[in-house]
Amino acid sequence: MKGVVMRHILRSQQFNRTDIEELFKATDTMRKAFKSSLGRVQFRPRLLGKLMFTIFYEPSTRTRFSFAAAAIHLGMRVVGTDNAREFSSAIKGETLEDTIEVLCQYLPDVIVLRHHEAGAAERAALIGERHGVSIINAGDGKGQHPTQALLDLYTIKQELGRTDDIKVVLGGDLANGRTARSLVYLLSKYKGVRLIFVSPPELRIGGDIKSHLIEHKVRFEEETFLLDALLHAETLGRDIDVVYWTRVQRERMENPGANFGESYRITPEIMSHLKQDAILMHPLPRVDEIAKEVDSDPRAAYFRQAGYGMYVRMALLQEILK
Ligand code: NCD
Repeated sequence: MKGVVMRHILRSQQFNRTDIEELFKATDTMRKAFKSSLGRVQFRPRLLGKLMFTIFYEPSTRTRFSFAAAAIHLGMRVVGTDNAREFSSAIKGETLEDTIEVLCQYLPDVIVLRHHEAGAAERAALIGERHGVSIINAGDGKGQHPTQALLDLYTIKQELGRTDDIKVVLGGDLANGRTARSLVYLLSKYKGVRLIFVSPPELRIGGDIKSHLIEHKVRFEEETFLLDALLHAETLGRDIDVVYWTRVQRERMENPGANFGESYRITPEIMSHLKQDAILMHPLPRVDEIAKEVDSDPRAAYFRQAGYGMYVRMALLQEILK
């Protein structure tokens, strides 16, 4: 990030370890400052008056609100539409390219885009680039969700104190979930990372991700059931540090009624097999794959994780709009 300013945020692979370190330092500074009301106004002049558009073709709560809040805390102004598939001219048949071209005419500094097609953010960035407008990928279909991955990695760093030498279970719907994909790309940059993918056979992580791991010599294995990954974890050298769980993305499935059974539900009984200093993460929204009773377990980090997200996004905005 030093030197050349990064204009767009499109995929996890664009960040190197130094970028990430700097970004996390800036995030720490923001979090510290925002503990006091004086600190809260400290950053406002930096991006004062800059304009963010948020255009979301798929549902979102956390990503949209945390980006908008991050922008407003930094003195920016925000205009946006959610449900853009219906409420933008997309319903009239306008292409994404035309929509972005037109939005750029209104002089935004950044467009935060969530879209149902993989590669949409890259397409938008070709247009944004011509106008000097930053594009942030806030999730593109089954593609990626890089800002979520950064906040996920930040959570690991905060909660465990390190990002090297960790054993991470990534589980749930790994075929359709973009957050796990983006997180794997980031984790593959660290030393001594071991990954255990847990999913039903029909929801396994994509071959592109496995090839990336092989190429970068990251150890990984696949299991069908979480209990098999956790039981005897120590004897198998798998003493898990992080369980990253995800929901079944029914809206992306041909057979949305498919039943994957109780074995994908994290309960207090499952948690009893996880070591005391491990953490349970989830990008949220949670449906029923983590039982409500788990929320009071101090290892349940998912709400803290969402909280870190706004600060990571503030640091990102500061970086790309400086
Ligand atoms: C995720 C997403 O949109 O990919 N949500 C989020 O941004 N935190 C996860 C999901 O929808 O399951």
